[in-house]
Amino acid sequence: MLLLAFVFCLFSVEISRTAPLLQPGYYAKSCPNAELIVRDVMKKAMIKDPRNGASVLRLQFHDCFVNGCDGSLLLDDTPAMLGEKLSLSNINSLRSYVVVDEIKEALESACPRTVSCADVIVIASRDAVVLSGGPEWEVKLGRKDSLTASQTDSDDIMPSTNSNASVLVDLFARFDLSVKDLVALSGSHSIGKGRCSSIVLRLYNQSGTGRPDPSIEPKFRQKLHNLCPLGGDGNVTSGLDSTPHVFDNQYFKDLVNGRGFLNSDETLFTFPRTRVYVQRYSEDESEFFRDFVDGMIKMGDLQSGKPGEIRRNCRVVNDPPLKEVVVGGLKDRRMSSQTCLLMNITTLRRRLNQAKLLFPFLLPVDPQNRLNQQAKPVAQSSHKLKNFQIYRWNPEIPVKTYLKNYEIDLKECGSMVFDALIKIKNEIDPTLSFRCSCREGICGACAMDIDGCNGLAFLLFKGISQELRSDLKESTTPMSNLIVTCVSIGKS
Ligand SMILES: *[C@@H]1O[C@H](CO)[C@@H](O)[C@H](O)[C@H]1NC(C)=O
Ligand SMILES: *[C@@H]1O[C@H](CO)[C@@H](O)[C@H](O)[C@H]1NC(C)=O
Ligand SMILES: *[C@@H]1O[C@H](CO)[C@@H](O)[C@H](O)[C@H]1NC(C)=O
Ligand SMILES: *[C@@H]1O[C@H](CO)[C@@H](O)[C@H](O)[C@H]1NC(C)=O
Repeated sequence: MLLLAFVFCLFSVEISRTAPLLQPGYYAKSCPNAELIVRDVMKKAMIKDPRNGASVLRLQFHDCFVNGCDGSLLLDDTPAMLGEKLSLSNINSLRSYVVVDEIKEALESACPRTVSCADVIVIASRDAVVLSGGPEWEVKLGRKDSLTASQTDSDDIMPSTNSNASVLVDLFARFDLSVKDLVALSGSHSIGKGRCSSIVLRLYNQSGTGRPDPSIEPKFRQKLHNLCPLGGDGNVTSGLDSTPHVFDNQYFKDLVNGRGFLNSDETLFTFPRTRVYVQRYSEDESEFFRDFVDGMIKMGDLQSGKPGEIRRNCRVVNDPPLKEVVVGGLKDRRMSSQTCLLMNITTLRRRLNQAKLLFPFLLPVDPQNRLNQQAKPVAQSSHKLKNFQIYRWNPEIPVKTYLKNYEIDLKECGSMVFDALIKIKNEIDPTLSFRCSCREGICGACAMDIDGCNGLAFLLFKGISQELRSDLKESTTPMSNLIVTCVSIGKS
């Protein structure tokens, strides 16, 4: 039986490999205010520091090019993994990760574990443009967050600010992005600032000549000289164009006039294949806006196809479930019935207290017995008493949920939570109802929804040696609203 379950699990991993289909309004049902929440936090962040807009916008480019738009960029380094934050083109350069944290926090309190960090980047980048006076567009959503990140991949892929246009054209072509896309997307430098350290070569030793880049307009060069003297503070910044807080086509006008800040910007005007677009956008802002939006959407479509998750905290992958954590699908009317949550007992209790939630059936197990202060701490050798607290829900009184205590002797019952339930139902409370099909590891047949996608409880628990699985449901709940509660008990 175990083998059967395992084979099924492998199969379901394979299925989840296919990249999710992205679509506008993806969270319309599961988190209707998601985009409003992001917009609101972005607005505040940009009032606090207008540069946050440009910094967040850059995150999309740096995330999407490295193994697709999967939030990998946001993962902090761990002892086992060097992430992308310290890669060559990101270190001391990318910023405003804290803004993403704030957005995610706001989303988690509105709709826990629903909106991916990868989608947060895409929504927030769009908002950065809108809030800076640029075009508005509808973003496609539904991305999953990566389970890992790669500094090496970032180092290998991301271009340097010294890159020339032909290198950039080739790079973008690798992602199916055209010359036009390259130039239009470079227009994101219409907002934001760059550091002196990015232009020292350009100012003092372009292409190893010992001379400045000849394409810099002389007066502008003098200005940059003064701002960024050789051997000066590399962290001093300057606008990437002359209107660094406004999303407009001034960037292209500046390039035409030899006043681009970065080499990788000005090169777009000196290189014939890209020059035509720079010229056009400098003359026609609405054409730039249109092509920019097309480019952002195309870039946002980049996906690795690798399995993912909805991270709770954008900086770390979700922990493997703790022993006392309850994993399960809760029926929450504010979300789609498909939504599953991972939460510990404390959080669960807090949410229950919010009273708006419906828990048709849920069984949290509390090995440390923290939920029930009054429980008898009995642990005699011939007994192994365990207090089960079961959330009960009466469909006649929808909002009313309550906890009911059942104390049973584990020595007199099998080792699975399931066994305990049967014992409670048979001996203590016949009104308890649940489904039996998941008992022996053929739970795949129940098609449970875990973590937002079909899967097996078994998968989630593979890191836990003595896992107990149970598949429960309120008897009145139809199969399509299957509520699965997977409970693990520690070895104790
Ligand atoms: C662009 O840069 C690459 C790599 O530095 C170099 O090989 C190439 O010759 C340059 N192309 C032009 C047109 O300058
Ligand atoms: C300019 O760069 C070249 C090649 O990288 C190097 O050999 C040379 O020493 C540099 N010149 C100065 C003045 O830094
Ligand atoms: C720039 O600032 C970073 C920290 O933000 C620091 O680590 C780095 O040494 C600074 N670089 C220079 C050239 O001052
Ligand atoms: C439970 O989760 C909340 C929110 O994620 C956290 O603040 C709290 O420390 C957790 N409690 C335990 C016991 O893990």
